[in-house]
Amino acid sequence: MDFSVSAPVPFDVKDASAVDDLIGLYGECHAHDLPGIPSLPDHIRRAIIVEGNPGRASDIEVIRDGSRIIGAFKLVRFLSDNENLATVDVLVHPSHRGQGLDTILLDRALNLAQAHSRSEIIAAVDYLVGCDEDAAAERRLLESRGFTQSQLEGYHYADVDNIDDEAERAYYERARAKAEGYELLQWTGQVPREHMEPLLRLEHMILTEIPTGDLDLQAETFGVERSIERQRLRTEAGTDVVQTVVRDPDSGLYVGYTVLLVYAAPAEHAAQGITLIDPEHRGKGLGMWLKLANLRLLREHYPRVRLIETDTADVNAGMNAINKKLGFATRYYSEEYLKRA
Ligand SMILES: CC(C)(COP(=O)(O)OP(=O)(O)OC[C@H]1O[C@@H](n2cnc3c(N)ncnc32)[C@H](O)[C@@H]1OP(=O)(O)O)[C@@H](O)C(=O)NCCC(=O)NCCS
Repeated sequence: MDFSVSAPVPFDVKDASAVDDLIGLYGECHAHDLPGIPSLPDHIRRAIIVEGNPGRASDIEVIRDGSRIIGAFKLVRFLSDNENLATVDVLVHPSHRGQGLDTILLDRALNLAQAHSRSEIIAAVDYLVGCDEDAAAERRLLESRGFTQSQLEGYHYADVDNIDDEAERAYYERARAKAEGYELLQWTGQVPREHMEPLLRLEHMILTEIPTGDLDLQAETFGVERSIERQRLRTEAGTDVVQTVVRDPDSGLYVGYTVLLVYAAPAEHAAQGITLIDPEHRGKGLGMWLKLANLRLLREHYPRVRLIETDTADVNAGMNAINKKLGFATRYYSEEYLKRA
């Protein structure tokens, strides 16, 4: 090592030039580890670093070589629900790997997690399809610290015009016929205030309905103020939503929804957010109908968006069945690890 490694120091999110430096580190790690995969736009990274996420607290610490950040970790703690849980993300600049910085950063993050009484810590290792050996060193480090593999998450991509018109129309009509009696609500841009409360019932199901490996999660119970805060942050970052909801006219309840996040121009890719159907209403074509109706809405309002990114657990048979029909192809994996203290 041609520099002396100091212990990680807390990162000041108000220091704009340090934030630029950290965003640079994220960008260089992404380009090295996941070449060819669209990266999260820098302004979104900035918003996440500076503002965090509603209902979560973040601690970032960094190691510098001179004034340049060459390693960092981010520990995210769940607040109010699942207060035993934290996620940790360790980054080391590609030209400083193999020097033990990852161990120093991970150990410090685990100490901090312990100080915050976190008993379940999640970490992930990313690699391109066919390159899982690239993740060997990270895997070994996590296992040496008591992590075990919990779940494999695939990142899948499809062009917005990927499936041919006829096949798409056939899927749409079939799903709509199966879903007869239900109605769709749609919007783009911001989530209108009047839909936030009825959506909460579904949002509270997310952590217990999507596959999360060996994690033992409790349903979240947040109120509408979190939806309002999330909308404020999205608006500030210039992120639009393209959202479709299915309503059961008999009960008036919202029983399913899907959302795409469209980043500010010139971004050409959109990220699939959650798709969820109330368990009582599954197997009736609603998932497929929603996804296709939302895709149509995306094409109509955001013709600049060419590519959709979505991630799904390998074991999620339902979501993977739909994504496969829509022609999504897996380009990289995120192997999720869990440590129970
Ligand atoms: C995934 C999910 C949205 C599917 O919704 P759904 O309304 O039940 O799905 P649909 O009825 O529209 O099914 C569409 C197709 O997928 C197939 N499919 C649905 N669930 C399936 C399952 N569990 N296993 C295998 N295939 C399945 C159906 O057979 C159907 O194909 P077909 O038309 O040829 O019969 C729903 O199961 C769900 O909300 N899961 C929990 C939330 C979640 O995991 N979201 C994704 C997070 S990444």
